[in-house]
This record gives sequence, C-alpha cells and structure tokens, in this order.
Amino acid sequence: MSKSDQFALELRQASKTFGTAGLALDKVNLAVRPGEMVALLGASGSGKSTLLRCVCGLEKLDANGGSVHLQGRTLQSDGRLSPEVRELRQHTALIFQQFNLVGRISLLVNVLTGLLPHVPVWRSLLGRFTVAERLVALQALDAVGLSAQALQRASTLSGGQQQRGAIARALVQGAQLLLADEPVASLDPESTRMVMDLLQSLNQSRGMTLVLSLHNVDLARKYCTRTVALRQGRLVYDGPSSGLDPQRLKQLYGAQHQELTGHEALGQAPELAQPWVVTT
Ligand SMILES: Nc1ncnc2c1ncn2[C@@H]1O[C@H](COP(=O)(O)OP(=O)(O)OP(=O)(O)O)[C@@H](O)[C@H]1O
Ligand SMILES: [Mg+2]
Repeated sequence: MSKSDQFALELRQASKTFGTAGLALDKVNLAVRPGEMVALLGASGSGKSTLLRCVCGLEKLDANGGSVHLQGRTLQSDGRLSPEVRELRQHTALIFQQFNLVGRISLLVNVLTGLLPHVPVWRSLLGRFTVAERLVALQALDAVGLSAQALQRASTLSGGQQQRGAIARALVQGAQLLLADEPVASLDPESTRMVMDLLQSLNQSRGMTLVLSLHNVDLARKYCTRTVALRQGRLVYDGPSSGLDPQRLKQLYGAQHQELTGHEALGQAPELAQPWVVTT
C-alpha cells in the first residue's frame, strides 16, 4: 500500500483561479484519513466551497494547479478530470447549505434518487424502484429519524428535516466520503444540533469520512477534533480544533475573526457562552 492509499482524500498543491478574481485556492496541501471528521473553517470568500467542489470534481483545478486524489486514485490533476471521475464520485456525496431536495416530490423519492448511478435511466425516469430499493431508502430515512415523513412532499419539510433528508440520500448512494458545505448555516439552533449530532453519529458508527465547511469555530470545536482553516485560498491552520483559541483566531484572521465566533449556532446566549469550553 503506498502512502497516498491511506488517505480518503488528498489535495496536493491544489490551486484554482477564477478569471480576474485571483486565486480562490492557493497551493493547498491536505490529507484526510478514512474515518476522520474534519472542519473546514474560514471567513466568507476564503475558498471553502471551491475546495469542496474541487474534491468532488464539480470544479477543475488550474492547469499546472496540482491534483486531488480519493482513496489513492487520482480524481483530477493539472486541470483535467480523470476518466475514473464518475466512479469515484459514486463514493462521494456533497451536501449544501440550501438543502437541494426536489420540493414537489416526496421525501422517499428524493432519497431514492441517491440510487440513480446504480439504476437504469428508464426506471428512474418512470419512478419505478423495486421493493428492495424502497426498503434501502426507508432504512436510511429511519437512520436520520424521518420514517414518518417518508411520503411527505419535500417542500413541506422543515429546513432541518430537509437537510437530514439530503443526508439520507447520501447514505442510499453508499457514499463513504461526505462533504458538507455549510450544512447548518440556514438552520435554527435546535435543528443545527440535530443535524450536527447526526453527522457525528454517521462518522462514529459507520466510519464515514466527513469534511464540513463551517463559519463557526464553536461548532468546529464541539464536533470535530481537527480543523483546517483557510484564509484567502491559503491553508493557514491544520491541527486540533482546540488549538483555535481567540488569540490564534485573531492572529490568523485579524478583524475577520469575529465572523467565525458567533454564539448563536448552538443557541448560547452571549453572556452565558463559554466558547472555549466544549459543552454537550
Ligand atoms: N464561479 C465563480 N466565479 C468567479 N469567482 C468565484 C466563483 N466561485 C468562487 N469565486 C471566488 O473565489 C473565492 C472563494 O470563494 P468560495 O465560494 O470558495 O468561498 P467560501 O469560503 O465558500 O465563502 P462563503 O463562506 O461566503 O461561502 C471568492 O473570492 C469568490 O468570489
Ligand atoms: Mg461557500
């Protein structure tokens, strides 16, 4: 086994430029082992979404802009996607801040679309899924606590329920690597807690590898042992989340550090908050 085979995800010298906007990613090196739950922290515009989109092949790196590898296999290199990209994507799911379920169909059918790479197109177009496939989807809904909502139209679900539905779809897809781009940014504190607890339990009980972009250092500290921080496309910190104390954040982000330390995410009143104590 070569060294890179040991990583669920690896970026080597990854760079991405958008037109005249400059570098969105600047020679980022990052390696994540299977079963890790890593927070990707950074102020707005620091490159979090770009990094996650490059990891699942939705965005191409620059020519001569390094490479991305999943389980030791090249997903993209120097601006070119590998021929294996479709297969590699099947093991990777990306969840967004806006819950990206199709509103006018039921939660169950939304979750079943996670099977699309494995189901012939004609069957999925006709919505014809087998009993066994429906069972898999129902089990995933059970795992995220949404069995009772299976037949509800997705548009009528709460934000937290929709996000858990998107996670159930990733389970049905059989994803081993779950990338989540600000998965709780649109949620109230209680839904935030439920979604973060769910992600943590998938990591702990199923050994799923998770990389979550977050705006909030308290969430990173509570749920992820490791945090990777970006500033203006550069990786400026990679280490224990507990190491990101106020002084360190100020040092890394200057005036922007306040953007990363809101207390609202877990429903803490500012005057009671103890941001540097992990609470359960
Ligand atoms: N499609 C695009 N076209 C042009 N510039 C882009 C594009 N996508 C991202 N950028 C630029 O790349 C930089 C990084 O953006 P990105 O969306 O990755 O940041 P982010 O950390 O996810 O920010 P946020 O917290 O606001 O979501 C920004 O300067 C942004 O304007
Ligand atoms: Mg973003």
